[in-house]
Amino acid sequence: MGLHYPATAADYRLLAQQRLPRFLFDYIDGGATDELTLAANTADWARVPIRQRVLVNVDGVDTGTALLGQTCSMPLALAPVGLAGMFARRGEVQAARAAQAAGVPFTLSNVGICSAAEVNAATTVPCWFQLYMLRDRGVVRALLDRAWAAGCRTLVFTVDLPALGMRHRDTRNGLSATGARPKLLRATQVLSRPRWLWDVAVKGKPHNFANVADAVPGGQDFNAVKAWVDTQFDPSVTWDDLAWLRDYWKGRLVLKGILDADDARRAAGVGADALVVSNHGGRQLDGVASTASKLPAIVQAVGAQTPVLVDGGIRSGGDVFKALALGAQGVLIGRPWVWALAAEGEAGVHTLLRRWQRELQLAMTLAGVTRVADIGPQHLER
Ligand code: FNR
Repeated sequence: MGLHYPATAADYRLLAQQRLPRFLFDYIDGGATDELTLAANTADWARVPIRQRVLVNVDGVDTGTALLGQTCSMPLALAPVGLAGMFARRGEVQAARAAQAAGVPFTLSNVGICSAAEVNAATTVPCWFQLYMLRDRGVVRALLDRAWAAGCRTLVFTVDLPALGMRHRDTRNGLSATGARPKLLRATQVLSRPRWLWDVAVKGKPHNFANVADAVPGGQDFNAVKAWVDTQFDPSVTWDDLAWLRDYWKGRLVLKGILDADDARRAAGVGADALVVSNHGGRQLDGVASTASKLPAIVQAVGAQTPVLVDGGIRSGGDVFKALALGAQGVLIGRPWVWALAAEGEAGVHTLLRRWQRELQLAMTLAGVTRVADIGPQHLER
């Protein structure tokens, strides 16, 4: 029987699996190497017990808050995810519209299919813009200038990708192989998903990386741009580059991919406006700690001045509550919004976000706390 009324992130995942060609589903779903960190990310939130309290006046529980100066319906933002325009027609635009309707920020990946200008033209609240440092700093400056001109004021600088992690599912699907065989394999997978083929592959064009395409010879060709992007990840980036970026970008600067308390202290010292505790959703180095396990020490290391956000394995409004109780000011979600997008487009993302807000509200109600700012370690079992 079909799944007509998806309720959870896992339900949307199943629908996405039915909708997408296998190599795309695996690209989203998979993690690095043996996927141990990927599994630990979700398992460790599941292990955090919330403290149930009764007979507290919880009339008027409010999930509203501000994230980086932006008023939000709940302390959650959509994480940057590359290639979202391959998962649904003009996927970044659909997700940004859903996020706006649900009252939360959308982060556009610099390797998104849609440009910041296209996304911001479809919404009234400008998106956050995510950057990977590229070898060609001229391109980086142009990228930042365009994002700024499009209205973006919050820059999310991702620092946990000096090189791409080992993702074995992609290898098995022949994503890095050349020649006729991998093409045939992909074609077979595409043909088994006619709805995606028509809606996204045919009607969803152009499929290039619109934010960087101008910089690449043959920039309208997806494979040409992808090959260029792969050579552009810069393993020589250091804290000095962060100082340069801090100076160049006049808006808010968020550092994403911090997993160590010493790094967190240093980031706060360089003037980052917020940190995101992240291991890239378990997609980079398998074997590193889960984000839930690292969050408390990092919050303690940077103190109250630098807001700490967290992502990785958050799969419900209850998990959002746990992250706040462990000291985060808010969370980012990656795969859950992408699954909902692939399954049901803008409407799917909107429904998912509304449901999570309701779940967060219920967690607050049953833990006996009415304001987001008051959630803390006292709301967890010791
Ligand atoms: C990502 N992530 C990511 N991060 C980033 O800074 N820039 C990017 O372009 C991407 N691209 C990307 C693609 C896909 C398919 C996934 C699943 C993830 C990482 C993302 O922002 C976030 O850190 C994780 O997805 C969080 O973990 P969960 O919520 O997916 O478990």
